[in-house]
Parts: sequence; structure tokens; C-alpha cells
Amino acid sequence: MAVAEFSPSYTKTSLHSSSQLSYISTRLSNHRRLAFRPLHRTRHGRVYCSVASNQVQAPVSVQTEETKNKPDCFGVFCVTYDLKAEEETKSWKKLINIAVSGAAGMISNHLLFKLASGEVFGPDQPIALKLLGSERSFQALEGVAMELEDSLYPLLREVSIGINPYEVFQDAEWALLIGAKPRGPGMERADLLDINGQIFAEQGKALNAVASRNVKVMVVGNPCNTNALICLKNAPDIPAKNFHALTRLDENRAKCQLAHKAGVFYDQVSNVTIWGNHSTTQVPDFLNARINGLPVKKVINDAKWLAEEFTEKVQKRGGVLIKKWGRSSAASTAVSIVDGIRSLVTPTPKGDWFSSGVCTNGNPYGIAEDIVFSMPCRSKGDGDYELAMDVIFDNYLLERITKTEAELLAEKRCVAHLIGEGIAFCDLPEDTMLPGEM
Ligand code: LMR
Repeated sequence: MAVAEFSPSYTKTSLHSSSQLSYISTRLSNHRRLAFRPLHRTRHGRVYCSVASNQVQAPVSVQTEETKNKPDCFGVFCVTYDLKAEEETKSWKKLINIAVSGAAGMISNHLLFKLASGEVFGPDQPIALKLLGSERSFQALEGVAMELEDSLYPLLREVSIGINPYEVFQDAEWALLIGAKPRGPGMERADLLDINGQIFAEQGKALNAVASRNVKVMVVGNPCNTNALICLKNAPDIPAKNFHALTRLDENRAKCQLAHKAGVFYDQVSNVTIWGNHSTTQVPDFLNARINGLPVKKVINDAKWLAEEFTEKVQKRGGVLIKKWGRSSAASTAVSIVDGIRSLVTPTPKGDWFSSGVCTNGNPYGIAEDIVFSMPCRSKGDGDYELAMDVIFDNYLLERITKTEAELLAEKRCVAHLIGEGIAFCDLPEDTMLPGEM
């Protein structure tokens, strides 16, 4: 799920000191203030952007010294609403801060509006969106923020934009890390691991410095498992368990293929695990999966299809989509991010589980420790998860799990310099590929 959000200039910038970044960000903030504040306020500081009466009521207090100094708020979102009073009357929950990187990209363009609508965190959960872009994408980021303004979402209370993760991630309770550089022509995978790894190392450090101590981090930018590992290693004060690599899209793809083959609607398919890496070595598990509560093998009586066609279809679905679209999947990726978050904030249906790339430390399956590996998880709906214990293995499954594990261990050796483990040594297996590479 790579998105072209980081221009070479950002990559270059990200290697500079944070004071330089602050300078750029401040410069852009000033520009923003000039460009947008006058557009949205009268001389008396009132907002003229109208709000339907059945939605948010008129702001209680308008422009204060505090809001004037707020560095990064955007347009109408710079207004201070008396959220406390509204919380009481509407029984709203306490506002949560959600940071999104790659915020001007295609995936975000689908995701942000779902977040703002209440579809993800619920109709009683006000949110603040903190959008991270690059210098190159900054204008587009302003465009995104303007569309969010114009959408009049009652639950969307604050939007801020910036290019400095140390500012944007301040107090983040969720960090959805989407922005990454896609592999370009002639670029080795090792180069991609290094370039994106540097971005995620920097973002891990920023989260460690300024985010909530219990921030939940979902890494989407590819190669997402190893990027998540780099991020968590650079954020030692945040529990490793809080970091996820998005493999929910692969799970959704697997469910769709199984439903199609069995001739059922996809809500009848459960207990689908994606094991391992979000790459072409990932293992869509048809041994533990169920259709209408029955083992898949009892419903789909075609072992060859399951072992070959089904598995390959899921592993390479991203690549087929790129061929059709001319770009990486975006809408379905955004949907799967929503699914991934909802699986953590709502209790898992009894007996079922969901896939997420999580840290292997202490896993009960014998998978190598200290990598980010997709495994079956269950949640009580509190943002946390436990690994499912009631899974079975056969030789086919174990063999493939070993292959994807070897790939992740090789990726880890490639980024040793970014995770405090000495000098990198890159011996990636030849067929190591993202789902989109064919
Ligand atoms: C996807 O699975 O659709 C993407 O991760 C493909 C890619 O390689 O960008």
C-alpha cells in the first residue's frame, strides 16, 4: 500500500535537524495563516461558514488569544467550540487526536472522510485530525483540509496540517502512517527498505517524543511490516504491542475469494488469518478459515484450488489491481484501515478473529521473536488485542509460514542500522516482492 507522498525533497528534509524542519513548518504555517484565516472570518472574528441547525450548534466562543497562537489549525477548525458543553448535552465522548501521514494521498482521500463521518470511532466520538504531508504535497494537503471544512462533519472538531512529525504527532492517540515512497524503476528493494525505513525511523522517534504514551500506530506504507518494526524500535517508550502493520486488506481479499468460490455472501466467511508479511510470501490460511461455521475444506472440496490458485490470487491481488488502475489500491485499502481500527475498538465476534501485523514477542506459535508478523488477533474493544490460541497447523501451513518468516528476518537484517542492531546486511530472498510487484 505504498503511496507517493514523500517527494525527494521531503526525504532530504527529513534527514535535516528538527530545528530546520520547524523552520520550514513555521514558514508554511505563517503562509497558511495569511492564506486562510481571512477567508473564513469576518472582521469580528466570526465564522461565516454556515452549519446546519441539526448539526453542530454555533460556536460558543470564537477567537481567543490561544486560538490565534495555535500553530497549525486550519480554517474553520481554528474556531474554539465549547466542546465540554456539547459533550454534556450530546453525551459525546472526550475528543481523540488522530494523526495521519501521507494525508494528501489517494488512500487518505478515502480514509479521512470516513474518520470524520463517525463511521470508524462511532457517532458519539468527536475527533481531531492531524494531517502530515510533505513540502511538495502541501498545497494538496490544504485542498484536503478545505474539503473537510466544506463537509460540515459534526464530529470533526479540529484539523491541523503540517510537515513536521514532531508537531503533527503531538498528543496523537492514533497514528495512521500511510505515506511512503513507492519503489521506482530500477530501484532495488533494499533501497526501498532503506529510504522508507529512514522515514519510519524518524516518525517513530517523533511519536516517542510527543504522542500519547498509549498511541495506537497502524503502518500502511510499504514494506509495512518492516516499517512498523523500525517505527516501534525507534519509539522505546511506547509499548511494542501498540504497533500494527496493515494486513487487513489481504484478509478481506482472501474472504472475497473464498466467498466467491463457495457461492456464499462474504459475511459467511470467518476466521481468516493472513500469516506473515504483506508481500507475495504472505500466507492466507484456509486450514483454519470457516464458511458458515464449517471448515473451508469441508465446503470447498478443491484442495488444488486452495493451495495454488486461491493462495496466489490473494498474494498477488495488489499487483493485478495496479495493472488495472495504473496505481496502487486506494479505496479498498482505506476500507481495510477502517476495518482494522474497528476490530480494535469493538469486541471481536465470539469465536472469530482478525489479522494484523503485530510484534511476535511472546507469540504462542513458535514464530521468531522481534519481528512484525501478521497473526490472528482478538480484541475486547479496548484498543488492545490478544493472539488467538485455538488455531491448528499442518505441514503445508508451517512450510509457508517458515518462508514468510525467513523473508521478514532478511528484511530485518537489511535495516539493522535503523533499529540499533549494527551494520545492515541485505540478503533478501530473490522472490521478495510487495503484492504490487509482479
Ligand atoms: C496492495 O496490496 O494493494 C499494495 O500494497 C500493493 C503495493 O505493492 O503497493
